[in-house]
Amino acid sequence: MRINLISLFPGMFRCVFEESIIHRASCKGIIEIRLIDLREFGLGTHRVVDDAPYGGGGGMILRPEPIARALESLPERGHTILTTPRGGLFQQEDALRLSLETDLTIICGHYEGIDERVNALFVDEELSIGDYVLTGGEIPAMVIVDAVVRLIPSVLGKDTTATGDSHYAGLLEHPHYTRPRSFRGLAVPEVLLSGNHQRIRQWRDAQSLEKTRQMRPELLERSLPETRPHDPGKKKP
Ligand code: ADE
Repeated sequence: MRINLISLFPGMFRCVFEESIIHRASCKGIIEIRLIDLREFGLGTHRVVDDAPYGGGGGMILRPEPIARALESLPERGHTILTTPRGGLFQQEDALRLSLETDLTIICGHYEGIDERVNALFVDEELSIGDYVLTGGEIPAMVIVDAVVRLIPSVLGKDTTATGDSHYAGLLEHPHYTRPRSFRGLAVPEVLLSGNHQRIRQWRDAQSLEKTRQMRPELLERSLPETRPHDPGKKKP
């Protein structure tokens, strides 16, 4: 997958993408990340990228020409996303859908917003990572890239799978334990030491349901019944 990131602050991505799973995926050639500095496409000698809004009001708006030029400089744009707090809420199912693309382009919004004509001409999808406002779209773009890349087959090692993740089946993940068996008076649940894989699976499913019920009960309404483990606590209608 080729991922293009158009940003006024491309340096923000380097430390994140030069570490860990994203870095390994780049080294293995599974993904290719291209950072495009929007400033290079700015207007005039001062490389201007923004201007005051028509109709008045505070703040500055990203002008359309630099973004258009940056997008048109790309050999392949593919599915084009704008990160903005007014976008649709980015969820695990979006990460899964986007992990199937061969080319992704993310425009990182900034200032008060971006000229609406960019949306009309170039943007396939506006995405928000949550109901709060950040100073720019770079961190949301990192979040999206991270969530998408780890779902590309062969990115996670053969011993790790995304299918057990929180949100994968619409539920939160069950608790995990490793050595030592007892830590500061707290023992690892006996069932995990039993070697009985069916009992372990049942325990994990029940824990996953319980954790979801406690922390995010609204997810239980949304999760697909066929992907959900049997819920012994649920009353028949
Ligand atoms: N830009 C600023 N805040 C944002 C958010 N919550 N999601 C996506 N882009 C943003």
